[in-house]
Amino acid sequence: MTSALDVFRDHVLDGHVAVVTGGGTGICRGIARAYARLGADVCIVSRKADVLEATARELSAESGRDVLAVAADVRDPDAIAHAIARTVERFGKLDTLVNGAAGNFLAPAAALSPNGFRTVIEIDLLGSFFAARAAFEALKAAGNGLVLNISATLHYHGTPLQVHASAAKAGVDAMTKNLAVEWGRFGIRSCAIAPGPIGDTEGMRRLATPEVAAKATAIIPAGRFGAIDEIAAAAVFLRSPAAAYVTGHVMVVDGGHSIATPSVAGI
Ligand code: COA
Repeated sequence: MTSALDVFRDHVLDGHVAVVTGGGTGICRGIARAYARLGADVCIVSRKADVLEATARELSAESGRDVLAVAADVRDPDAIAHAIARTVERFGKLDTLVNGAAGNFLAPAAALSPNGFRTVIEIDLLGSFFAARAAFEALKAAGNGLVLNISATLHYHGTPLQVHASAAKAGVDAMTKNLAVEWGRFGIRSCAIAPGPIGDTEGMRRLATPEVAAKATAIIPAGRFGAIDEIAAAAVFLRSPAAAYVTGHVMVVDGGHSIATPSVAGI
């Protein structure tokens, strides 16, 4: 079967070192897998040590590389700093931080508890900042650093039942631009990817019933959900020398979903 990753030449990421938070499952597992497959040394980070270690074993076996797994909650600044230090200790440097750890669920704003709202902001927004802050010195030392945030398209319009995640991702987009401007002088780029509906992810399984998925597919200009490898391909491009002049950019990879509105003409 062909994959969006097949266009990249082998070893395009040789010599790169990346930390991927949320890399145990889903889209970020796909990014970690693509990076390792194309030559990078990768450390995956998430809360669940058993899931993480199983993924690291799979990715190591597939890529033939030493994939490191460090269990840490991105809400804990010391824990994420420790994961980054372990990566530098093992691989000698850090070029790329992928901020993919996220939490989400569907909840009406009027019924969402303060702690529910806070929890998603803490994981998605504060966690991304804590990780970027902890990675700064290593990314600066690498001389070719990249912070790659995994955002969303929820906040481009009002998305029902998603006030918490939308607010968090709007903050992530703002941070993407701020870091690009502040850290450019240190040789660090900051970009984001905003995935649309991607098949075969826990998020989609939990957030979209088959009925909702069918309705969404009907308005996606590409006519289908995306594949994890299509997000991973964007993450490889943004990490590669081909994107050396791209910073502060949020790349939407959604088959046109976020710009499509059902037309009154019914087409
Ligand atoms: N609806 C409404 N509120 C919810 C909720 C839901 N489905 N899931 C969690 N919350 C609320 C909890 O009730 C709690 O608030 P409270 O203390 O006022 O009751 C708060 O969020 C924290 O929940 P808790 O489960 O204790 O936090 P956690 O840190 O263990 O996990 C999540 C938070 C978001 C990661 C958890 O809900 C989860 O595991 N989600 C599935 C995994 C996931 O989100 N993957 C990413 C897909 S994009």
